[in-house]
Amino acid sequence: MADVTVNLGERSYPIYISDSFRDFGNALTTISFSSRLLIVTDSNVDKLYADSLASFLEHLEYEVLKIVIPAGEKNKNLETVSRIYEFCRQNQIERKDTIIALGGGVVGDIAGFAAATYLRGINFIQVPTTIIAVCDSSVGGKTGVDFGGSKNIIGAFYQPKAVYINLDTLKTLSQVQYVSGFAEVVKHALIEKTVADLQEEFELAGLFEYLEENTEKILEKEIDCLSYIIKTNCLIKSKVVEFDEKEKGIRAILNFGHTIGHAIESSLEFRLTHGECVALGMIAACSIAVKLDFFTEQRKQRIIALLTVLGIPTNDSEIDIEKVQQEMKNDKKVSGGKLHFVLPKKIGEVIECNHVDEGMIRESIRELVGASL
Ligand code: GLY
Repeated sequence: MADVTVNLGERSYPIYISDSFRDFGNALTTISFSSRLLIVTDSNVDKLYADSLASFLEHLEYEVLKIVIPAGEKNKNLETVSRIYEFCRQNQIERKDTIIALGGGVVGDIAGFAAATYLRGINFIQVPTTIIAVCDSSVGGKTGVDFGGSKNIIGAFYQPKAVYINLDTLKTLSQVQYVSGFAEVVKHALIEKTVADLQEEFELAGLFEYLEENTEKILEKEIDCLSYIIKTNCLIKSKVVEFDEKEKGIRAILNFGHTIGHAIESSLEFRLTHGECVALGMIAACSIAVKLDFFTEQRKQRIIALLTVLGIPTNDSEIDIEKVQQEMKNDKKVSGGKLHFVLPKKIGEVIECNHVDEGMIRESIRELVGASL
């Protein structure tokens, strides 16, 4: 049985959470007509998990092919997608075949985009292997690549047939990759009450408080704790996606921390992880909300305290305010010339706002640098 189901009518799909590839057959029941499986993975994950996944699939009598793409955000581009198309063409991949995206968010986004566009769409299954991918990018159907220096500017909404999470793959993440991924989990915790207001049947789990109370277990990668957090996190995200699959409205709350976070990420040329940038972006959004007087400094400090205990940096002296502001102007989240912000109101509640004074944005970024005003 699925641990979470994303309910989207005929595009509904299960999310399975396991501690091995043992139950992968469940994910494959969603693509019963598929005869060949193409694993798309990157040069890092290939060495660690591609063989064990492939031998498991072969054991189930599937024909398995594999393409290894170069690792890293700098390769998240149309050239890499072209390489996948070329591989598919040379190997006569058909519409009934399935792409399996094995890796972090970059692999999932690229492989998902190739699946969305090759032969006008072939099946794909997400097998995320980083916290960011498990808790955010593998769920919800956003696929795409960077272009002309802008992140994720080309893409498609294309839902996977299933998401299969093998918690064992998280053990080999570097400490930085592991802990910083929790920024996305904190983000989902900080929107939980707003999500509950949207969906009556959704029961509040109190994810933020749970995270505060279980930081040691998180850092020790305690399996039951991780499994509970991931399930709750995916449930929160899936409820938002069910409500607004194509981000015509409320799904934008999933961008909490991303307006400034993405800009920091690009301006530092990806020196910081995505999670670290989202954490900084959320803190800046909290600062804006405090200045606008609808969030308290005490609540902001509570969020900073959680991030700090988890080991996620809450400032960075190399942030260049001018560059960040320039990057923000290039971002997809500019609409009608205005920047779109998601700001906290309470722990668990956010609101959308696109009338934030530039000076206030600047001051909030400056606070992240730690420079005097
Ligand atoms: N990562 C934000 C979203 O899926 O909408």
